[in-house]
Amino acid sequence: MDALVVSKCNRLSGKIKLYGAKNAILPIIAACVLTSDEVQLCGCPHLSDIDDMLAIIASIGGNVRFDGEQIFVCCKAVNPYTIDYALMRKIRSSVFILGPLLSRCGEAEIALPGGCEIGQRPIDLHLDGLKSLGVSVQECSQKNTVSCKGLPRGGIVKLKYPSVGATENLMMAAAIGTKKTVIYGAAKEPEIVDLAMFLNTLGARVFGAGTDLIVVEGKGRLHGARYRSVPDRIVAGTYMAAVGAVGGDVYIEGAIGDHLDAALHKFRLMGMDIMEEQRGIRVRQNGRIKAVKQTVTLPYPGFPTDLQPLLVAALCSAEGESVVTETLFENRFRYVYQLERMGADVILDGCNSVIIKGRSLYGAEVYAQDLRGGAALVVAALTAEGQTTVNGVEYIDRGYQSLGDELNLLGANIKRLTLQ
Ligand code: EPZ
Repeated sequence: MDALVVSKCNRLSGKIKLYGAKNAILPIIAACVLTSDEVQLCGCPHLSDIDDMLAIIASIGGNVRFDGEQIFVCCKAVNPYTIDYALMRKIRSSVFILGPLLSRCGEAEIALPGGCEIGQRPIDLHLDGLKSLGVSVQECSQKNTVSCKGLPRGGIVKLKYPSVGATENLMMAAAIGTKKTVIYGAAKEPEIVDLAMFLNTLGARVFGAGTDLIVVEGKGRLHGARYRSVPDRIVAGTYMAAVGAVGGDVYIEGAIGDHLDAALHKFRLMGMDIMEEQRGIRVRQNGRIKAVKQTVTLPYPGFPTDLQPLLVAALCSAEGESVVTETLFENRFRYVYQLERMGADVILDGCNSVIIKGRSLYGAEVYAQDLRGGAALVVAALTAEGQTTVNGVEYIDRGYQSLGDELNLLGANIKRLTLQ
């Protein structure tokens, strides 16, 4: 496991460019299974989750190549029975392979997905939705696998919760067929809109993405494309939280304000100066940020759960007391115990809220246990006296191309240690 040694930082300044959004590119890579033509994806970051997703595509017979920022995927022929289960169990987004395989082959057998342990993360909404489209689903609890048969025949799906992954899987399951599919209660995240735009670039007919009612009209056959995904709004929010925590003046090139409305509103309440410009967002902060009374994470357009740890990390040095409540995942506060090792005054209140009283932090040895919790430890460490060692950088590498190097471009002093 590698570690980041983070020294206290007094100010972040300069300009940083966003790369493509992990949570858009992952379903888009899976969607390449829907066409036998080559697809070229531009502006892609080198993240371990993306590497794992490409390896899953290769395990079913797809040709994949990652050259600089360009990903090339060509699924001339796919075999739905050779999926690499070990890889499936590594990442949550492996479940996205199900919809495209069913749409293309009419059958698939997958291992239940893995991913950051921030909660149970079942896939019942995915499977119930596929059943509504006429797919037969057999779950095997001993092997933790799911076997599906039948081409999705279109129909009506009513999601009882706006699950991002279930919405994406069902859009892809419906994309080729020959019938019409209506998804009620769909998630509305910008990454859903991006996937719909990608599918339509392949020749699909997806309408209503970004609302809670999505209609997909099967197109029979889809063709290849060249596509660039939306910028990573969670990486943008991570940089903003770091500027809030430490102070400074940073221009985030490519950041789109509309994708982060709830977060920008929160950062402004904390006293930060956020200027949405034509091609990016400028963030300025002088002195300590203010505490914010209550923040509740919600599905988009609410405050994003993926920025919850980053917000808490920034609030650890704010002036006053804040409360943050997590409503999407039941185990997304493990990083709080690591913040306490740095002297943070953060108390779990029940199982889904934390109370934070801002104070100075000091350097310590801490351990990342998931992607965004790990990034939060780095943000908190920038404000801590002395040096902090953040172990488990592999978790952070899942969603940040190189968080330490990126922050060093803005004036931080972070070194990466390769341990045993
Ligand atoms: C996506 O996960 C993102 N991952 C997550 O980002 C993000 O936190 C989440 O959406 C919410 O925005 C990717 O896109 C790869 P959900 P997903 O299905 O699709 C429950 C990151 O840090 N649920 O919207 O798994 C689930 O347990 C990651 O980049 C069911 O009960 O999220 C959770 O409590 C972390 N049954 C809630 O819904 C299901 O079938 C939201 O899950 C599916 C989900």
